[in-house]
Amino acid sequence: MPRWGIPNGARRDTPKRGMAPELVMKNIILVGFMGTGKSAVGRLLAQRLKWPFLDLDKKIEKDAGRSVAEIFTAEGEAGFRRLEAKAVQDVAGLQSHVIATGGGVMCDEKNVETLKGSGFLVCLTASPEMILERTAPTLSSRPLLSGGDPRERIQALLALRTPFYAKADATMDTTNRTLQDVVEEILKVVNR
Ligand code: S3P
Repeated sequence: MPRWGIPNGARRDTPKRGMAPELVMKNIILVGFMGTGKSAVGRLLAQRLKWPFLDLDKKIEKDAGRSVAEIFTAEGEAGFRRLEAKAVQDVAGLQSHVIATGGGVMCDEKNVETLKGSGFLVCLTASPEMILERTAPTLSSRPLLSGGDPRERIQALLALRTPFYAKADATMDTTNRTLQDVVEEILKVVNR
C-alpha cells in the first residue's frame, strides 16, 4: 500500500492493530454524472493503489437481487434513492477503498455529508456530447435517460445537478482523455 499523506478533506482514521497510522487511509470516492467514467476510472485507480474497488450501483443490485432498471420500474426513483442512501451508509465505514457512486448520489444532502466523512470526493465531468456518446450503448439500462430525447435529458439533468457536484473535494474533466491520464491526475491531487 502506498505511503500517502492524508489528502485534503480526508481524515486519518484509527489504525487497525499493528498497522502504522500513515498506512490507514480513508476512501477515494468518485462522483459525477452518468458517462463521466466513474466505474472505469475507479477500477484502474484501485488497481494502481492495490486497494479494493467497490461500485455502489453493483452493491445496490446485489443487495436487492435486481438491476437498477428493474428497481426503478418496481419502486420508482424514490425507491431506488432509498436503497442508494442505505448503501451509502453501509459503505461509509470502509477504509482504503476506491468507491464509484451513481450519478444522483450527490443530490441528497445526507449522502453528501456521509460520503464526505468517509473519504475524498473526486467529481468526474465530461461534455454533454461525450456523455451522450458514452451512454448511447447502454441507454436501455439507464432509466433517467430513456423515454425521451437523451440529449435533452442529459442537458436538463446536468443543469440541475451542477451545484450538487460542486460539493466534491476536487473536480476532473474526462472529456477526450484516457483512463490512465485521469488516474494519474487523481493520484497527483490526492498526494498534494
Ligand atoms: C443515476 C445514475 C446511475 C444509476 C441510476 C441513477 C443518476 O449510475 O445510479 O440509474 O441518477 O444519475 P451511473 O452514474 O453509474 O450510470
